Amino acid sequence: MAKKKLKQTLNDSHRVATSDDIEVSTYLEIAKEIGGEQPVAAKEAIPEAEREAIIVIDFGSQYSMLIARRVRECQVYCELVSYDTPWEKIAPLNPKGFILSGGPASAHEPGAPLAPAYIYESRLPILGICYGMQVLTQQLGGRVAPGTKHEYGHAILHLSEVDSPLFADLPASTPVWMSHADRIEEMPPGFTSLAHTENSPIAVMGNKARIFGLQFHPEVAHTPEGKTILKNFVYRICGCQGNWTIGNFIDESISSIKEQVGKGKVVNALSGGVDSSVVATLIHRAIGDQLTCIFVNHGLLRREEVERTFNVFRLNLGMNIIYVDASKRFLDCLKGITDPEMKRKIIGEAFIKVFEKEAKKIGKVDFLAQGTLYPDVIESASSGSKASAKIKTHHNVGGLPAKMTLQLLEPLRHLFKDEVRQVGLALGLPEEMVWRQPFPGPGLAIRIIGEVTEEKLEILRSADYILMNEIKKAKLYRQLWQSFAVLTDVKSVGVMGDYRTYGYLVAARAVTSDDAMTADWARLPYDILARISNRIVNEVPGVNRVVYDITSKPPSTIEWE
Ligand code: XMP
Repeated sequence: MAKKKLKQTLNDSHRVATSDDIEVSTYLEIAKEIGGEQPVAAKEAIPEAEREAIIVIDFGSQYSMLIARRVRECQVYCELVSYDTPWEKIAPLNPKGFILSGGPASAHEPGAPLAPAYIYESRLPILGICYGMQVLTQQLGGRVAPGTKHEYGHAILHLSEVDSPLFADLPASTPVWMSHADRIEEMPPGFTSLAHTENSPIAVMGNKARIFGLQFHPEVAHTPEGKTILKNFVYRICGCQGNWTIGNFIDESISSIKEQVGKGKVVNALSGGVDSSVVATLIHRAIGDQLTCIFVNHGLLRREEVERTFNVFRLNLGMNIIYVDASKRFLDCLKGITDPEMKRKIIGEAFIKVFEKEAKKIGKVDFLAQGTLYPDVIESASSGSKASAKIKTHHNVGGLPAKMTLQLLEPLRHLFKDEVRQVGLALGLPEEMVWRQPFPGPGLAIRIIGEVTEEKLEILRSADYILMNEIKKAKLYRQLWQSFAVLTDVKSVGVMGDYRTYGYLVAARAVTSDDAMTADWARLPYDILARISNRIVNEVPGVNRVVYDITSKPPSTIEWE
């Protein structure tokens, strides 16, 4: 019975959507919670004096996060908040304007989510996008009705009010991306139509109080002038200065880390992934030797990975690093284990134990650094604590000792992944590290089907090294979300010279993706596939066949386990 329950909970969820380092940080967070500690929110890194922000009120569109990214690309700080967020949470950001996102609801139906009253009372500029436009129409006394035609895809926008500041630098006609069923039947009093498309007489509307509505999506790439419209809104209409730059972010973070940490000590689990590397570098810049990184080598890393990470951080950046080679311990724990979820659980448990032992040696530590990113923050704000959800999967891992009461230090919690990369580059991290493809926390253990052994790890490392080498030589590395080799537990017959062989089957996997939630198999050129296959079969003893995985996610996953 207990076994069945364990299996069930293990199968609930293990996949990680965004961050390549998240597994490690999640284990630590869980351990702390088990140790009776509640996570402490990190301090904001934006100084009060020059604070300005655009607030995106989120009605659940798949593009909401994209709006925030686009605004930040205009060098204006932007946060995404749920439509029921109280004013007290927003006021400290010093908002200069609001954007109402799209969403799946119908504004004319009872119970549809509405914009909070304070956005109208604030007298700040408002830009409603799609559902956001319909909401403000409804709330300000206009009328929204179900459209007879669903308008989806490309349309041509024709400007009627070319002098509107929203349209500065725009041609008189421009393609836009539509996706809506409802339409504005009657604009609220005081509004005029500023632009139309063939099917939408009111594709853009506005009033003198600087409230605007767009029926189309300016945030998507299919609206080529969309960024200009958003830029016009934040600069010409909201009057933003544009102080959200990577340089400013780094300066501000450094002073806020110094202030927060004081004379305290910080510990960081370094994995060589982008997020933990940037976190370590930023904190090191701020507080130097008060930071200690613990680098646990679980023996499931790729060839040269340990050396590369170590060289960058210890030799180039001069960081305090405790390096622990725990490969034997992890391999012993994995002996005889074939179930993928069991592998993950065992690796997680062993990781906590090793980390705990090493951290104890440092003496009193005050902060645990984590590479939490903005999408994780948004996600956990909307769906409760991610860590506590994961406890279901890892409920019996050992916690860090209760006396180790650590506060979280999360200097990247306001950043998107692309911003993290820019920070990494600006801090002088090598491109190779900053553009590293995601690599799962349990490492090669979930790329070896069946039992993990030292012999299989060596075979996989050699095959993976060749694949990566060819991908990099062909300059495809950055275009691919992930590319790697998998060692299957299939053996097949081959012939080499005069001998028959009976060797392993290696699968090559390469995918394109934006966020790992969905992925497409990469159409790698045949000659590159041929080189990968030839080299693996010729150079890796024990392998006599290579196949290429041509399934997308869904229905497959990116990893094989
Ligand atoms: P899947 O295989 O679910 O993978 O399509 C989605 C992304 O998550 C990574 N992944 C993991 N990362 N611990 C991690 O830190 C894990 O247990 C794990 N499993 C999958 C995978 O590499 C891909 O980027």
